[in-house]
Amino acid sequence: MNLFLDTANLSDIKTWQPTGLIDGITTNPSLLSKETTNPTAHLREICSIMHPHDVSIEVTEQEPKAVYEQAKKIAGLAKNVIVKIPCHVDYLSVIKQLVNENIKINITLVFSLVQGLLMCKLGVYYISPFIGRLDDIDSDGIALIEQLRHMIDFYGFETKILAASIRHIQHLHDSVQAGADIATVPSGIIKTAMAHPLTTQGMTQFNADWQKLGIRQFP
Ligand code: E4P
Repeated sequence: MNLFLDTANLSDIKTWQPTGLIDGITTNPSLLSKETTNPTAHLREICSIMHPHDVSIEVTEQEPKAVYEQAKKIAGLAKNVIVKIPCHVDYLSVIKQLVNENIKINITLVFSLVQGLLMCKLGVYYISPFIGRLDDIDSDGIALIEQLRHMIDFYGFETKILAASIRHIQHLHDSVQAGADIATVPSGIIKTAMAHPLTTQGMTQFNADWQKLGIRQFP
């Protein structure tokens, strides 16, 4: 199970990369727009910090031909770039062509089993089902991860499931149980996931007992 950080915030990335917990980064135009007015330089820096781990960068063009050309340029930004393309019918040929050219694709905005199946048939590297956004409309995001897991294993596809739009720890917990290959999370979720009142309580107790000994040097 790999863990990605879902952010374009450099300070977050610099804080979490040295922990060794983060196997990659996912960005999107909304996340980038909050951080920079020079996305190219910003993304190059993220790729350099994260090398050799994956950094997903999304296309911003709309027309298929422009998406294809932009995808090639994005892929050329660094060796660890994964190109993110929305799961849309207009881009089927573009996606296939890029896959044939050995460009790693992360298909974003996946909301159904059949969308996932079609993308697996194209041989993409990742599919990103958006759990939180499904839950937002009273659908079941985790059920989709389970269905995709079953489908990929049953048919023997190589595409990996990247659980996205994770809003809280329960989403992360359930994604692990549903068999996602990767979960991409905002950094706040990792912090919260590490916190447990019994851990804090235990540390306080151990320290209090230790202090009673009055030892200055140990060992
Ligand atoms: C994933 O690649 C997306 O950047 C992200 O998970 C979207 O999450 P949101 O639905 O919370 O915006």
